[in-house]
Amino acid sequence: MTKGSEKNILVLNGPNLNMLGTREPEIYGSETLSDIEKNMITLAEELGYAIDFRQSNSESELVGWIQDARGSSSAILLNAGAFTHTSVAILDALQAVDMPIIEVHLSNIFRREKFRHHSYVSPAANGVICGFGSNSYILALEAAHKILS
Ligand code: DQA
Repeated sequence: MTKGSEKNILVLNGPNLNMLGTREPEIYGSETLSDIEKNMITLAEELGYAIDFRQSNSESELVGWIQDARGSSSAILLNAGAFTHTSVAILDALQAVDMPIIEVHLSNIFRREKFRHHSYVSPAANGVICGFGSNSYILALEAAHKILS
């Protein structure tokens, strides 16, 4: 929720990220999505942002949220999960919003299977942060802050 003149940063998480904590912890770590959200809120408060943190397994819901960001958010941090590698619809939605976009991944997608090396999100993103586990989200927030300030 945006308070007063606080800038809102939309953090979107795609499919299966609701399973963090128990999902392949050797790849994604043991923190849950809720742990990540709490850490982001702590830093966001210090930096003067409100965080709107969401997760969906549905491509259409993610597209709708990206469309709705126009006018309500200052930046989008997006971990599109597997949709990163498949979704032209998410790319099109991102290209229709005019604000900083940071692509985030917990794992280093370039060290993994070849099908993860291509991202449909990257052409619309200011930058990509991957491979730092849950810290990727914190680094992405710092990157958005640098762009916005
Ligand atoms: C991921 C990497 C994707 O390849 C995978 O499908 C995910 C998570 C990551 O955060 O490392 O679901 O986006």
